[in-house]
Amino acid sequence: MLSDRFGRTIEYLRLSVTDRCDLRCSYCLPKGFKDFEEPAHWLTFDEIERVAAAFVRLGARRIRLTGGEPLLRRDLPLLAGRLSALSGLADLSLSTNATQLARHAEPLRQAGVARLNVSLDSLRRDCVAELTGSDSLPKALDGLAAAKAAGFERIKINMVPIAGVNDGDIEAMAEFCLREGFVLRLIEAMPMGNSGRAAQGSALAPILARLRARFDLAPLSLDLGGGPARYWGSRDGRFTLGLITPISQHFCASCNRVRMSVDGTLYLCLGQEQSYPLRRLLRAGCSDTELETAIRAAIELKPEKHEFKEAPAKVMRFMSQTGG
Ligand code: 5AD
Ligand code: SF4
Repeated sequence: MLSDRFGRTIEYLRLSVTDRCDLRCSYCLPKGFKDFEEPAHWLTFDEIERVAAAFVRLGARRIRLTGGEPLLRRDLPLLAGRLSALSGLADLSLSTNATQLARHAEPLRQAGVARLNVSLDSLRRDCVAELTGSDSLPKALDGLAAAKAAGFERIKINMVPIAGVNDGDIEAMAEFCLREGFVLRLIEAMPMGNSGRAAQGSALAPILARLRARFDLAPLSLDLGGGPARYWGSRDGRFTLGLITPISQHFCASCNRVRMSVDGTLYLCLGQEQSYPLRRLLRAGCSDTELETAIRAAIELKPEKHEFKEAPAKVMRFMSQTGG
């Protein structure tokens, strides 16, 4: 088992397979950003599988593939198939913006991806175009339809409400999710990089009050994937809402995860700079024992909590660089 200095068990690895993205969500990647990782530094599928297998031997039970946009990584379903075959892994999931999901939903499902999170901030085409820098809504909706057809259930829709941009769209998003059987999750914008800091995330408490009244919501004690979301459900069971509140009510005490970026760096916290490079070790032909020792050493560096509120200027990395 992997546990950190604060007694937390680390059982969840989020693997970024690319830092590139076909979108430029204003709170994530700055417009015109070009400083992406060189392909020579991307971990290969063999290397990623090796790290994943080491984590699973050390007790990790869940893996999520992230990016950037993970579907931009060529042959991703091949990697998914290799990871889902790791014995001891209980849950393989994927976060995507869905623009390429229409093509990939079926192969991903076949490869053993069990659950999907889809980023979508509005159902107004012009609003999505403004927020993401391209006319991506029709493609994302096609992707979602294909995912449902491929058999993915309870797909989570991640929405970052930004004051004056899409915070008027929340009710429409909720109605859409209710109709489609999706779980709507509202996420507070985090001050990651200049782009994240510039975002005026909406306060979620008044939004929750509004949605509670409209959808007759009651708190649920639900663990949908071991994450920090707190869930609410309509009494008729048809609608589920999740709130992710890193700013107004942080959940660091129960953090169970670490992240690896595409260049093989372990990041121990989204909101802190502690990191541990694995690529050089992997490419120097380390043994499995050496790799496990390095992972344990990295976990020792995991900080107690983020300081998004106390020190918002601290994190220079954008979300797409660490992996969401
Ligand atoms: N704050 C909160 N969420 C963010 N995401 C990207 N950048 C930020 C930020 N600064 C979200 C995306 C996506 C997930 C991977 O991370 O909306 O749902
Ligand atoms: Fe791309 Fe996701 Fe960042 Fe949007 S939030 S730019 S979809 S990585």
